[in-house]
Amino acid sequence: MKVLVINGSPRGEKSNSLRLAVAFLKGLGETETRYFHVAQKQIAACRGCFACWSKTPGKCVIADDAAEALRDQLWADVIVWSFPLYFYSVPGALKNLIDRQLPMSLPFMTERTDGCGNGGHPSRYDMGGKKHVVISTCGFYTAEGNYDGVCSLFDHMCGAGNYETVFCGEGELFRVPAAKPLTDMYLENVRRGGEEYARDGRIGPETRAKLSELLLPKEVFETQANASWGVSPDGQAKADETLTFTRQMAAMYRKESWDGKDRVLEIRYTDRDRAYQLLLGKDGCPVTEDCARTPDTVIETPWDVWQQVSSGAIRGDEAIMKGLYRIAGDFTLMMRWNEFFGAGGAKQE
Ligand SMILES: Cc1cc2nc3c(=O)[nH]c(=O)nc-3n(C[C@H](O)[C@H](O)[C@H](O)COP(=O)(O)O)c2cc1C
Repeated sequence: MKVLVINGSPRGEKSNSLRLAVAFLKGLGETETRYFHVAQKQIAACRGCFACWSKTPGKCVIADDAAEALRDQLWADVIVWSFPLYFYSVPGALKNLIDRQLPMSLPFMTERTDGCGNGGHPSRYDMGGKKHVVISTCGFYTAEGNYDGVCSLFDHMCGAGNYETVFCGEGELFRVPAAKPLTDMYLENVRRGGEEYARDGRIGPETRAKLSELLLPKEVFETQANASWGVSPDGQAKADETLTFTRQMAAMYRKESWDGKDRVLEIRYTDRDRAYQLLLGKDGCPVTEDCARTPDTVIETPWDVWQQVSSGAIRGDEAIMKGLYRIAGDFTLMMRWNEFFGAGGAKQE
């Protein structure tokens, strides 16, 4: 199977969405794969001259990298469109590439038979056997209701519903170390989706249901996302990165774990001369900088070590055994860490 991945994220290989596309490809198994990273290419905007339909049929007058993308699409059996959602649509650079596909059509007017809009153009090439997969992450908590523009575009381009999709909300979690257990789980489901697609030509209903589950519940995600900007509520002042990180961690607190007892967790970043208190309460987990309460549990850790523990890069218990960080006071909070701050998914609302 020959697969072309068109990566439309301006972040290139650091794209959240591309991580999903790569997981999907893993599931496809043995493939011959080409990547077209739009951000690394020169793709000018279409000039609207229609020369590709008249003077130089099938060929654009602009000499840049768009021709390579067209050639690769003719080569591929499966085209994976991977991109972030930008203003409820595809990013501009990818839209430019899509506009530059005009040489792939013939100029004549045709009727559509799939009920998707009125009017179309026949393809210059036999694209009948090509399959399309559309993979995208977005920044809001859910993909639901935010992809109408994208679906409309691909319905018109590929034929109504004639493509497979993976749309994932809370996309920025794919770069949050503390969310790695959750995002790894999601990527595993995307991989399974790829496996099913290779076998059955579609993602099965069970995997589809898993892929539409939220990574984090709406409220937890939005608190976490708001904290992650590291700026004051008016968007002006920059917060210290240790405070931003601690707020992000506190946002992962699960209120349901409250057992009638408030707990004060103090975290001291020993090499940064910073300390914060997290109050694990009934209604949430506020973070304070004054450390005025008597803590139940104190974590004393170098900044770097705590980052690695929270991302799962090193195991917390092993790091303690190795003396990389220290715990004082009530140890039960540590024993029940996953219950308090664990990675619990939630159903799409
Ligand atoms: C210019 C711009 C517009 C965006 N528009 C939306 C949007 O309409 N809806 C949304 O949920 N997220 C939006 N986002 C967030 C991105 O979709 C999100 O951060 C995504 O995970 C980035 O994926 P990438 O790493 O693959 O580029 C926007 C981001 C930018 C920079």
